[in-house]
Amino acid sequence: MLKVDKVTKQFGGVIAIKDVSFEVKPLEIFALVGPNGAGKTTLFNIITGVLKPTSGHIYFKEEEITGLSPVKIVQKGIARTFQNIRLFKSMTVLENVLIGFENHYEYNFFEAVFRFPRFFKEEKIYKEKAMEILEFLKIDKFANYEATSLSYGNQRKVEIARALATEPDLLLLDEPAAGMNPKETDELADTVFKLRSEKEKTILFIEHDMKFVQKIADRVMVLDYGKTIFEGKPADMMKDETVIKAYLGDIDVEG
Ligand SMILES: Nc1ncnc2c1ncn2[C@@H]1O[C@H](COP(=O)(O)OP(=O)(O)O)[C@@H](O)[C@H]1O
Ligand SMILES: [Mg+2]
Repeated sequence: MLKVDKVTKQFGGVIAIKDVSFEVKPLEIFALVGPNGAGKTTLFNIITGVLKPTSGHIYFKEEEITGLSPVKIVQKGIARTFQNIRLFKSMTVLENVLIGFENHYEYNFFEAVFRFPRFFKEEKIYKEKAMEILEFLKIDKFANYEATSLSYGNQRKVEIARALATEPDLLLLDEPAAGMNPKETDELADTVFKLRSEKEKTILFIEHDMKFVQKIADRVMVLDYGKTIFEGKPADMMKDETVIKAYLGDIDVEG
């Protein structure tokens, strides 16, 4: 599904990612972990076209997508959520999700501005689709609430809803459990499993909560100073001496 091939990213003198390669298979739940500053978000930014790699290649469904614009990459079928929640203030939950459909709207700018009949027709379809997504994530009762008035856990769900609105095959989640309480984290784990089993999504996620990683990830890659220091099963990662030294020794592995 996704192939990252020998990717390096340099910011001035800082090498944020160094020669990183990995593959995510269809319907896999793949975790990306490592200390702060390891390069995880940078890798997400490269995959989603926000940053261009200094060298290396990204392939999605066998097609090279290196250097394509973020909009093109969304259209190819990759969507993401952000480490720092990015919901539009003074917009409702439903409106925030509708923004996700932007790239799928068939009307052009002028039709939208002058609200031609076609716009209304399509808007209704998209509203229904957005409500279906909100129901799937069990936040439909908040559809008309201001998005930023929701609890932290529910705001994260709105971000996931907006990403789902672009109808991606691959969903990238940047620290989805950050700031969640244990109950919300358990619900998130169920949601991720349902995204795979019911919506056929492939998931690549960044997370520090090792309990969560062990519960949901099929495979995990550990980055440290931009380099891969482990790739394999979560249970094996927990026992890996190099990973314990570089990362696990410093965090609460109970999550
Ligand atoms: N846009 C940028 N410009 C300069 N340096 C950056 C930029 N983005 C990230 N970095 C640097 O790259 C390294 C990796 O950062 P990041 O990918 O955010 O790590 P992580 O998500 O694993 O915590 C850090 O040293 C960070 O300061
Ligand atoms: Mg990060």
